[in-house]
Amino acid sequence: MQAKPSATSAPSAVSASSGWSGRFDEPVAEIVKRYTASIPFDYRLAEFDIAGSLAHARMLAAVGVITAQDLADIERGMATIKDEIASGQFEWSLDLEDVHFNVEMRLTKLVGDAGKRLHTGRSRNDQVATDVRLYTRAACDQIAHLLVKLQFAFVALAEQHTDTIVPGFTHLQVAMPVTLGHHLMAYVEMFARDNERILDCRKRVNRSPLGAAALAGTTFPIDREMTAKELGFDAVCRNSLDAVSDRDFAIEFLNACTITMMHLSRMSEELILWMSPRFGFIDIADRFCTGSSIMPQKKNPDVAELVRGKMARVQGHLVALTTLMKGQPLTYNKDNQEDKEPLFDTVETITQTLIIYADMIGGIRVKADKMRAAASEGFATATDLADYLVRKGVPFRDSHECVARAVKAAEVKGVDLADLSLAELQTFSSVITDDVFASLTLEGSVAARKHIGGTAPDRVRAEIALAKARLAALDAVGAVPPRSPA
Ligand code: ARG
Repeated sequence: MQAKPSATSAPSAVSASSGWSGRFDEPVAEIVKRYTASIPFDYRLAEFDIAGSLAHARMLAAVGVITAQDLADIERGMATIKDEIASGQFEWSLDLEDVHFNVEMRLTKLVGDAGKRLHTGRSRNDQVATDVRLYTRAACDQIAHLLVKLQFAFVALAEQHTDTIVPGFTHLQVAMPVTLGHHLMAYVEMFARDNERILDCRKRVNRSPLGAAALAGTTFPIDREMTAKELGFDAVCRNSLDAVSDRDFAIEFLNACTITMMHLSRMSEELILWMSPRFGFIDIADRFCTGSSIMPQKKNPDVAELVRGKMARVQGHLVALTTLMKGQPLTYNKDNQEDKEPLFDTVETITQTLIIYADMIGGIRVKADKMRAAASEGFATATDLADYLVRKGVPFRDSHECVARAVKAAEVKGVDLADLSLAELQTFSSVITDDVFASLTLEGSVAARKHIGGTAPDRVRAEIALAKARLAALDAVGAVPPRSPA
């Protein structure tokens, strides 16, 4: 992480070295300088800004707009700036407004005129759009990588619990028994879609706006395909006006992140319920929980609760960005500077969340006896009895009615369906024989649902094998740098 610039670094009068001071008669007011500056947050773009500038300079040299000597000077200066930033020596200045001016002015200080030539044929408008796309692309790669790791954690836990019975709920009421492995693999499906979404979004992120300049392109004979290739973009943005003003890619990205956070928030809600003593299904490792300052018996699932809370924050960023864009005429407007904090905060929030979550899932202790006991309550095998009657020739609607009456009788007696005697069960339907009890067990119920997508342990084992193969392939080609783009 680079050293944060100080938002309070003493601003001075309009500096001769600021990028646009020539036509101004008085200095910008101090408060306005602080209000309009983006350097307190956009310093995060420095490595991408430098990469973009180097690609631009190499292209300018290749088409003969600057000399080979200018290029060599720019490359040398940028290498020094990179070192200064990495070692925390770089002096960020609020006077210089943003990361682009900070880097460019330092370059000119270091290498003289070549630094002043760098901005030929470009503008901060295409420059910032390029930087934000490069930052978002790195974030997509990192999140895709972390989503794969998270899925591995879920699959590992599911694998230990392919036969563990847990109540499946609808309306938060016991509905049918399911296997815990099946329940966990439902989240693997969600995260697999999230992974697809982020990689699909990456395609539209990965287009180069560089060369659109301020809005209309430039009179210099630039080679946009060359800079795009050097920066690893798949294509160039085809319209200069759109290139500098478009932030759809960031909105799509925030949307994908919001959906992922929503999935994590849903899982968190389950973990919180499951850990509550009322359920008592699981224990979350101590390192993810906190105690109460007053109630010594408490162990709170704080991480899960915070994930649920942080989803709200990320969704807020998505709403901020769509709202930011809705009133803007073409092309660049300063409003666009407000795209950064929502984007940066989302990346930082989701990155930490995914890392912590994978670890937390690995540290869950399952209380299988409690889960099983809960699944035995609430007549969870009532549908199995109805299906049994259908297999004996009773039309489904009639069998549904018979079972409803059987449930009522069991409820009055205070027992489960499987606790009724054969004679009692036969009062509801004469087709019932003593093979009925196999259908009324929890194990029989789950084992019978063995079709694709079903909860049977054998089916879940097969799905786990498929998921593992899919994840291993993704992990292999992923080759994602596990580094923070921030
Ligand atoms: N700091 C600005 C931003 O983040 C850079 C672009 C400034 N362009 C301009 N025309 N004022 O959007």
